Amino acid sequence: MPPMCMYQAAPTGVDQGNPNDFHLAHYGARAQSVAAVIVEATGVVPEGRISNQCLSLGRDDQVPAFARLAHAIHAGGAKAGIQLNHSGRKGAGRPGAELVESARAWNPNYPQQVSEAELSWPLVAPSAVRFSEDYAVPQELTEAQIDEIVEAFGAAARRAADAGFDFVQVHGAHGYLLSSFLSPAANQRTDQYGGSLENRARFLLRVVERVGQYLPVAVRISAVDWQAEGQPGFNLADAQKVAVWLAEHGVFMVNVSTGGNLADAQIPAGPGYQVFAAAAVRQALQEAGFAGVPVSAVGIITSAAQAETVLVSGQADLVEVGRPLLVDPLLGARWRHELGAPPALPPSYVRARF
Ligand code: FNR
Repeated sequence: MPPMCMYQAAPTGVDQGNPNDFHLAHYGARAQSVAAVIVEATGVVPEGRISNQCLSLGRDDQVPAFARLAHAIHAGGAKAGIQLNHSGRKGAGRPGAELVESARAWNPNYPQQVSEAELSWPLVAPSAVRFSEDYAVPQELTEAQIDEIVEAFGAAARRAADAGFDFVQVHGAHGYLLSSFLSPAANQRTDQYGGSLENRARFLLRVVERVGQYLPVAVRISAVDWQAEGQPGFNLADAQKVAVWLAEHGVFMVNVSTGGNLADAQIPAGPGYQVFAAAAVRQALQEAGFAGVPVSAVGIITSAAQAETVLVSGQADLVEVGRPLLVDPLLGARWRHELGAPPALPPSYVRARF
């Protein structure tokens, strides 16, 4: 199960960013049918959330709330991963009134009394270039601020370890902070974090090293920006190099997604449309001697037969299935049944019928 934001956490107050009963039920149910659950993008600090209803893990006193979630996932029988993120220039940057409106649409239990100031925050990014007109112009991070964010990733990983999670997935995809550093579409810096691919990857690799002090680390990357011909952007050859560097830094799994850095990208979304990128990354890892680092494919993989083809054709070592699993929590068991493998239903469902 790949990370999927649910926009159900408290936006403010003592429970800000904490998982609640919704998250326990949601993740616990799906943990009964998949090998691993990766909990949605979780801000390493509150201002690293994607929305004000996202999870965040910036304080030590949050460990018990997150421990309940890790326990619910384990009780379902899956490994528990958590995606740690900083949203960068794609954080909650719109005017407060608009944010309240969209938050209420997502969550009927949204608190009535929240001030606009609590709902959005100044955005940060590699360069002062906004994602789109819907977002505020971000502030360019100083090197000292980059150091602080590396430390925030480390501290959040320590809390995730204390809460009992099995691994961290660092969010290096979809145009959020680490992804935006990788992409020349967003990163126009001239210091050690900009320019060459090595420089653009420096922030991500520092985060991986720091997080790896506490838990095994996977990284999700956007392997292509889907930029138009001649437009600056991250491309597949860049992704292959970055994946090898990630493996050299001890990453145990690479999750390959695409897109998110360019608001106007034309993405040919269709069945298995990102699998080619996973296959290319997997090939690069194998050629560099990292055949032991599994690569996962994701994106409109909607049947057991399609998933099986991706695996047996050697395009990926794992598949992640997102939206179909939202509709059907026991999808994994159903697909195993369809493929003639033991369905591995939870024991209490022994009399269930497919
Ligand atoms: C997502 N996706 C996503 N990706 C990510 O890296 N972190 C996240 O928090 C989210 N949040 C999110 C929320 C919702 C509601 C959706 C539908 C998607 C992307 C997701 O992990 C996955 O890559 C895509 O949904 C494509 O896979 P499927 O859904 O076609 O299997």
